Amino acid sequence: MEDKDLKKFISRVMETDESAPDLLHTLEGFRWYMTLYHCAIREVQTKFEVLNEELSLGNVRNPIDHIESRVKSAESIVGKLRRMGCKFSLKSMTENLNDIAGIRVICQYVDDIYTVAEMLGKQDDITIINIKDYIKAPKPNGYRSYHMIVEVPVFFSNKKHFVRVEVQFRTIAMDFWASLEHDIRYKKEIENPELLAADLKECADIASSLDTRMQMLRDRIRPKSSADRSENQKEEAVETTAERTERTA
Ligand code: GTP
Ligand code: MG
Repeated sequence: MEDKDLKKFISRVMETDESAPDLLHTLEGFRWYMTLYHCAIREVQTKFEVLNEELSLGNVRNPIDHIESRVKSAESIVGKLRRMGCKFSLKSMTENLNDIAGIRVICQYVDDIYTVAEMLGKQDDITIINIKDYIKAPKPNGYRSYHMIVEVPVFFSNKKHFVRVEVQFRTIAMDFWASLEHDIRYKKEIENPELLAADLKECADIASSLDTRMQMLRDRIRPKSSADRSENQKEEAVETTAERTERTA
């Protein structure tokens, strides 16, 4: 958001809300936090890029298809605080909202999601705050995705700040479904909403069985996993060392 738009937005919120924004009083404070959230996204995104690059070594395959990210807009932040009945303040914003920084990791196969999520969670500068597994337990409307709230340190010039980031892991099929469902949700006039909800649920079930079958197919032609491969590489290294020992003996 441009500064002048942000200022306009701030004064609008302040006019319409008495309890309003200490959050939005300080344009600078708000900007500072948005920068922090942007940096946190970069930290986490880099971790995924590193994992993807390492796992694709030796042509095994890329577990991650692509990554999307966004920092929540000022409008959405205010809207959510209002819906939650929370104060408008920088403190309240950082304490109550876990999804100001959001990353979506789109994988090809369901098992890639669990592999990559586990690898992220195990990194020693990452703290897992919360996990919601809507793959094992889909929402009643059919929504599937694996959500993780993590905390990551961001090193600024004089201090280390711990920042929460929401990571949503989805397969391509899950993402395809969620995008459509999201678009439909914001359409005002829909004929026969019950039928549409039933259709969407059916599509979610189809997407889910597609994921399962694609995973099974992939498993049939799958090259060795990277874990097996690195075991092999270790064995090869040992063999090489042994051979060399033999040669020099
Ligand atoms: P929010 O207040 O919406 O952030 O939800 P929450 O705090 O209850 O957390 P949850 O993990 O359920 O959802 C977080 C985010 O996942 C949402 O902001 C959406 O981006 C996505 N999401 C959750 N449920 C659905 C759904 O039914 N459809 C779609 N398209 N997205 C969903
Ligand atoms: Mg959200």
